[in-house]
Amino acid sequence: MKTSEKIYTLLAQNQDFVSGELLAEKLDLSRTSIWKAIKTLENQGLQIEKSKVKGYKLLGGDILLAESISQEVGFPVTLMETSYSTQQDAKDNIAQNGVTPQLFLAPSQTKAKGRMNRDFFASETGGIYMSLHLRPNVTYDHLLPYTLIAASSIVKAISRLTGIETEIKWVNDIYLGQKKIAGIITEAITSVETGLITDVIIGIGLNFNIPEFPTEISAKAGSLFQGHAPISRNQLITEIWKLFFEIPVKDHLKVYKEKSLVLGKQVTYIENDKTIQAQAIDITDQGHLIVKLADKQEKILSSGEISLSSW
Ligand code: BTN
Repeated sequence: MKTSEKIYTLLAQNQDFVSGELLAEKLDLSRTSIWKAIKTLENQGLQIEKSKVKGYKLLGGDILLAESISQEVGFPVTLMETSYSTQQDAKDNIAQNGVTPQLFLAPSQTKAKGRMNRDFFASETGGIYMSLHLRPNVTYDHLLPYTLIAASSIVKAISRLTGIETEIKWVNDIYLGQKKIAGIITEAITSVETGLITDVIIGIGLNFNIPEFPTEISAKAGSLFQGHAPISRNQLITEIWKLFFEIPVKDHLKVYKEKSLVLGKQVTYIENDKTIQAQAIDITDQGHLIVKLADKQEKILSSGEISLSSW
């Protein structure tokens, strides 16, 4: 662990001030090194109260602790100090024939990738940006519905740790009220020789504690917390991936349906440049959406985007 990580851990364990002297003694460091590490933590978004007499007190914020997450989830977690996109970091792991499962995590990203070739807003601080690299090596028919599993894990983890109930807008968006707080992108690589899906990369971007968004997205984007967060990002990340691997797929599907924002509602989607109105009636085991059209015919939508006619 880096010095700043050790200091964060000690401050997070205490509700009150921890003196610079005690920190220096516990970590066998000079007071100047402690002071420098405190500055580093502040630059990473931590709010720390400093008192000449009493020392340091953590008021809010956290830093990502890859080692602790890894110990809890049982697979490697790589924290990138800077990242273009954690999807790309995971793709580099394919090229390097790296270990899987492996989670790539970053405090921010300079070119985060959203679905449909869109950009995804990544805040400098307060976000969760991560990509899980898996090697399923199965045919397409046997591929698990990873986006659905990830969405169910996110809403369940948030509910378990905070009591806050979020909802899923088919296929990959998590909403708190009428604002999107998280998005999921799942990318797969197929071997032309064997026809098997060799690699899957599941990317999650979650607005954990982001009080402000750029004006272009501020009407639609929300944050799980705004200001004070009662849990750390490390706790939420850990819980998400534990649930992802531990819950049977059928139970994930149940959560996905229960938490669906669209089932039973009127939706619209675009087909051949035409806007179609339909009612969302069910979700298949593969995570596809079954809609009923105006002429009562049913249709299965497997990807793409839908809009809710009303909330
Ligand atoms: C979407 O809502 O369109 C999906 C957004 C997915 C964003 C995440 S952030 C972590 C990972 N790295 C990326 O570049 N994209 C995904």
